[in-house]
Amino acid sequence: MKAYEIRNEGGAGRLALVERPQPTPGPGEVLIRVRATSLNYRDLLTVRGSMGGAKPGLIPLSDGAGEIAELGAGVSRVRAGDRVAAIFTPGWISGRPRSRTAESSLGGGSVDGMLREYAVLPESAVVHIPEHLSYEEAATLPCAAVTAWNALVTVGHVAAGQTVVVQGTGGVSIFGLQFARLAGARVIATTGSENKVARLRELGAAEVINYKTTPDWDKRVMELTGGEGADHILDVGGAGTLVHALQAIAPGGFITVIGLLTGMGGEINPLGILFRAAHVVGIRVGSREMFEDMNRAISVNGMRPIIDRVFQFDEAPAALDYLASGRHFGKVCIRL
Ligand SMILES: NC(=O)c1ccc[n+]([C@@H]2O[C@H](COP(=O)([O-])OP(=O)(O)OC[C@H]3O[C@@H](n4cnc5c(N)ncnc54)[C@H](OP(=O)(O)O)[C@@H]3O)[C@@H](O)[C@H]2O)c1
Repeated sequence: MKAYEIRNEGGAGRLALVERPQPTPGPGEVLIRVRATSLNYRDLLTVRGSMGGAKPGLIPLSDGAGEIAELGAGVSRVRAGDRVAAIFTPGWISGRPRSRTAESSLGGGSVDGMLREYAVLPESAVVHIPEHLSYEEAATLPCAAVTAWNALVTVGHVAAGQTVVVQGTGGVSIFGLQFARLAGARVIATTGSENKVARLRELGAAEVINYKTTPDWDKRVMELTGGEGADHILDVGGAGTLVHALQAIAPGGFITVIGLLTGMGGEINPLGILFRAAHVVGIRVGSREMFEDMNRAISVNGMRPIIDRVFQFDEAPAALDYLASGRHFGKVCIRL
């Protein structure tokens, strides 16, 4: 089968198309014919080498969807031909994550990911995908969508009438916008790209703030909420945005710490958290149970993920470059 491996030459990582032996499922395992994958910011860091810790020749990408091609002995959760997606962290089925949970995450460390024609996974590591979604659409779900769902629904218990802030127009944030709208919440979106404002509004953002021309976007959020602040802020920016999020959160609101797009480090004044009685919660994607809960909501509401562009398998390096450019709105996929 064909697969992409990460090659590291002089510190710069790149994707190399290779031939690998066709895998076969052992007891309790399934063989997936991968039909589509999607890219996340993490994949960019993993391939380019800034995540560290990836084994030589790792197959990258956490996200993939396809059909069950073969069953190992004793498999009962799925049948041949079922349409499934891999879960981000095969070792996290339900409940809270454990200290070593992340070690089983696909497409990082020593665990091969989904940028390949066939993948063998434990039967417990797949979920059925919503019937109305294409393989490309389903391939957008395992990382970005589950992360946004965990932050807003599992942790935040978002409710109709609340205000949700999402930052930028990447995968996590656009899913955050969609789930907030499904819940009947009001969305304030930020973006650094003026040409993405109209699309944010089309998707239901009530207000859009340009974080480049309005770097103190927290002040604008306070104005737009009558001085009360937002009930939920999905923070994908990290060091450069968390300080603003703490100024924009409503008393008792939820800031979910998701990403580090602006970097790590920084100083946080504990008084802000205390004074606003804020819930500041770190998010690590989510469990299989969260994925299944989310899929039910997606099915019932006929929700469709927002895909910016689909690349073919032999264009995978170009797909990664496109993600790195930041021009995308929502998700970037690769079709096999
Ligand atoms: N903790 C977790 O479980 C988890 C899960 C998934 C992702 N993440 C992290 O979350 C972040 C986003 O991931 P993703 O896959 O959604 O990324 P992505 O699809 O690559 O989206 C990146 C987008 O973020 C926006 N952005 C860039 N700098 C920004 C800033 N200073 N303030 C606000 N927005 C900014 C840009 O949108 P505009 O062009 O609109 O400005 C850019 O297109 C990454 O750091 C990723 O590692 C964490």
